[in-house]
Amino acid sequence: MDSPAKSQKSPTQNIAAKIFHSLNIISLFLMITSGLQIYNANPVFGGRTGLHIPPIFTLGAWLAGGRHWHFAAMWLFSLNLLGYGIYIFITRRWRHKFVGTNDIKAIQKTQNPKRLTYAWHRIIYTSIIPILLLAILTGIGMYKPAQFPWIVDMFGDWQALRIVHFASVPLITVFVIIHWQLGKKAGGDKLIESMFW
Ligand code: HEM
Repeated sequence: MDSPAKSQKSPTQNIAAKIFHSLNIISLFLMITSGLQIYNANPVFGGRTGLHIPPIFTLGAWLAGGRHWHFAAMWLFSLNLLGYGIYIFITRRWRHKFVGTNDIKAIQKTQNPKRLTYAWHRIIYTSIIPILLLAILTGIGMYKPAQFPWIVDMFGDWQALRIVHFASVPLITVFVIIHWQLGKKAGGDKLIESMFW
């Protein structure tokens, strides 16, 4: 997308970007709701009688159902992210799609409120990449702790690994809210719609 400061044209997106974006939203919805179902079987916060998540936010009905969903959607989520990584690498989009020094300079110096919003928008949407990679890293550590003990060691112990993995739920939720609002502020409903159709 061009900076709205530079262009008033209706924003358009590449079809590949729309597909990756939509699959990411669907898979994250499945990962979060099935993950919360798994969490409920043995809450990290407070043990079996501790903080439970209301069933409306969970998927899978019980522990095994939640795990089936989680491990099935894990492939959709990870392969989609990998596909996106390959796509932005091959098309060289990584060079200009993510936050750069220009955005940091704009935050420090610009008097143009549109440029400022646009810079924050780029910072925020870039931040989802490390959040998702952290979810995969900690997920792999929980999935195969015998094969990847160094992942568990990196976080100290199993309980800490669970808490960091769980943190992907609030981080992604907060990200979605801010990303949505800043996207709207930067390019209006037209920009939001251009990501889907
Ligand atoms: C970004 C998306 C993801 C979200 C939001 C998410 C969320 C969650 C949540 C909330 C839990 C319950 C934590 C607990 O109480 O211990 C969980 C468990 C788990 N997740 Fe994820 N997760 C994501 C991605 C992944 C990935 C990519 C993998 C695998 C590579 C994975 C593997 C696991 C495993 C193995 C468990 C524990 C299952 C069990 O103990 O039965 N997760 N996830």
